[in-house]
Amino acid sequence: MKGVVLAGGLGTRLGPLTRITNKHLLPIYDRPMIYYPIQTLVDAGINEILIVTGGNWAGDFLRLLGNGKEFGLRNLDYTYQDGEKGIAHALALAEHFADEDFITVILGDNIIDGSIRPFVDNFKNKNRGAKIVLKKVEHPERFGVAQFEGDTLVRIVEKPIEPPSPYAVTGIYMYDSDVFDIIRDLAPSERGQLEITDVNNAYIERGTLTYDIYDGWWTDAGTFESLFHANTHIARQHIASESASPDKNILS
Ligand code: DAU
Repeated sequence: MKGVVLAGGLGTRLGPLTRITNKHLLPIYDRPMIYYPIQTLVDAGINEILIVTGGNWAGDFLRLLGNGKEFGLRNLDYTYQDGEKGIAHALALAEHFADEDFITVILGDNIIDGSIRPFVDNFKNKNRGAKIVLKKVEHPERFGVAQFEGDTLVRIVEKPIEPPSPYAVTGIYMYDSDVFDIIRDLAPSERGQLEITDVNNAYIERGTLTYDIYDGWWTDAGTFESLFHANTHIARQHIASESASPDKNILS
């Protein structure tokens, strides 16, 4: 199993902050945003990781992350996405890196405070297909949303006005090597992008998509509200753990 962090795109929803840097280099409490998805992969036992980035600050990722030593990695791979042509377009750039292996993909603005290891281990035991991770949320209309018939996932609808369920599709996906053939057959959506939701719907049509439900805390950080939410949650977690330690009570 290899890992891919998608950190391309232009982050225009976070302007003017993203006029002078890449969204995934903005701070979430005490670390740049991209540290969190990398750590999520490493904690799941994945140690071959590709970062897909883009825009004008791609060199800053290399300066920040280097060979990934800080995460206990021996090496990090990098590639560059031209423009903002969609999540599936960014993923297509990982084909050579994946080299027929299974991959776990995480969006560079997705932050969780638990582990995806059980999902990854479960997917490793399958011989084909894809897996997505769902999370019950209050406002699913901001995300890709799962539509069920009974327990069967029949479709994913991207940012629906009327969500068919409270289950958002998180930016954590697992794929076999068919994903690259599926992306080659995609047409751009109305907003001119290759959509990851179309990739997942193609797996549903083939009958090879499974899902898990994540019960822990999860957010993306691509809007001012969610960026603020991510910062306050992680800050509170740090402060709570530091004040619980008898040697380091930063509140006293
Ligand atoms: O966070 C989960 C949601 O992410 C899913 O529920 C949606 O189904 C999925 O489409 C996506 O929605 P967003 O509107 O949040 O996607 P956004 O355009 O903000 O891109 C999310 C990340 O994907 C971004 O932080 C970097 C990567 N990306 C995005 C684009 C458009 C790329 O690497 N290249 C791109 O061209």
